[in-house]
Amino acid sequence: MTHVQSGLPDQYGVREDYIPKDSYISREFAALEKQRLWPRVWQIACRLEEVPKIGDYVTYEIADESIIIVRAGEDDVRAYYNVCQHRGRKLTNGCGHTNKLFCRYHGWRWNLDGTSDAVIDREDWGDRLSDESLRLTGPKIDFWGGWVFINMDENAGPLLDHLHPIASIFKNYELEKMRYRWYKSVVLPCNWKVALEAFNEGYHVQTTHRQLLPYYDDATASEEHGPHGTFFSPPGTRLTGAPSRRLDVAMPNDLRPSIVAYFDMLERDLKAIVSERAHRASQRLVNDVPPGASHMDILIQLGGFTAEAAIAEGAGFPALTHEEIVRAWQDWHVFPNHVFLLAPDAILAYRARPWKDDPDQCLFDIWSLVRYAPDQVPPLNREFYENWQDHDGWGLILEQDFRNLADIQQGMKSRGFKAARPSPVQERALSNFHRTLRSYVLG
Ligand code: FES
Ligand SMILES: [Fe+2]
Repeated sequence: MTHVQSGLPDQYGVREDYIPKDSYISREFAALEKQRLWPRVWQIACRLEEVPKIGDYVTYEIADESIIIVRAGEDDVRAYYNVCQHRGRKLTNGCGHTNKLFCRYHGWRWNLDGTSDAVIDREDWGDRLSDESLRLTGPKIDFWGGWVFINMDENAGPLLDHLHPIASIFKNYELEKMRYRWYKSVVLPCNWKVALEAFNEGYHVQTTHRQLLPYYDDATASEEHGPHGTFFSPPGTRLTGAPSRRLDVAMPNDLRPSIVAYFDMLERDLKAIVSERAHRASQRLVNDVPPGASHMDILIQLGGFTAEAAIAEGAGFPALTHEEIVRAWQDWHVFPNHVFLLAPDAILAYRARPWKDDPDQCLFDIWSLVRYAPDQVPPLNREFYENWQDHDGWGLILEQDFRNLADIQQGMKSRGFKAARPSPVQERALSNFHRTLRSYVLG
């Protein structure tokens, strides 16, 4: 494979500062992703909390493939290709609860363990239908942090190997105890990677989310970890709640009010990463922490107040060292199509997928997860929007990100544009992502 539709010879490849635009806009590239990327990678299908009872199922759609995740037993969650073994009707859609997997065309049925339950007039086939050949087949399935992952490649390595080093960095976070605070899916007017990358670098904050700068020192660094990548605040960055060094603003003597204001803003404009409980805990800072406390001390106290509230509620709180919190406090891109932002009691996560073979659209899932007391888990309500403008509850931050997307996708098609030029410092993870991606797609 030498080149794709843009006509750029692949020797230009991906450099630290150069990503050929064909990756985002070419139909041929999208077709190659469908053929060579999606069938070969570990990807999140759902969370275990979505199939709590035997018979609960969720379907996961990816690039013409549909996969059923179903709970077949107390500790037995399985994945099947969502297709009838008679003449290929899709077995089900969406999510729900059932005792049998049933085909609505001629009525063939399967048990939850994948064995055949009924073939109408089976004697017509004589001995040509063996039980074994009727059994539903599926991709590989594995579990981590409460998520159900699938991989259609029979030769795929273990999920935990793929997640290295992320799984070990997050290991004490008890992610499996988190539950959905909200779950929204939206069709966005851009390539799935354009959407994902809008959430995988901090360089755009100074322009796109300028209102954060009084509370967030936004200069970031970016790192690669195998196929994965992160961006983070490098040593020397001011701590959470301090103004960006880009602003000509003196460091306040008392940072408590500005941390409170920042948490207020995140609660109002995002409703994720910072749990409602952490937001409430931040309001204690002004009364319960002395004005002379060091910046680090204020943040440590805030963590303590949050933990105290979580334990009092019955939610529990992970036992994390200061080093573990600092290490995980990054924006993590998990190859190929997930981004995670973690706090000890909450996560904001994203998943991007192609939509209808169209390189100019994607399906984007946004998950706000929180660690709740078992009796306080809110009911799961999955919201879906065909157009982000149909919903006015995104909050300012996501809305600001969404406003860029259609113009990025259209802009990249211009004859005046050859390649994306990510910052070799702040957007390094993007280059690494595309190098890995091209190794799948171009062989
Ligand atoms: S296609 Fe499913 S029973 Fe015929
Ligand atoms: Fe953003």
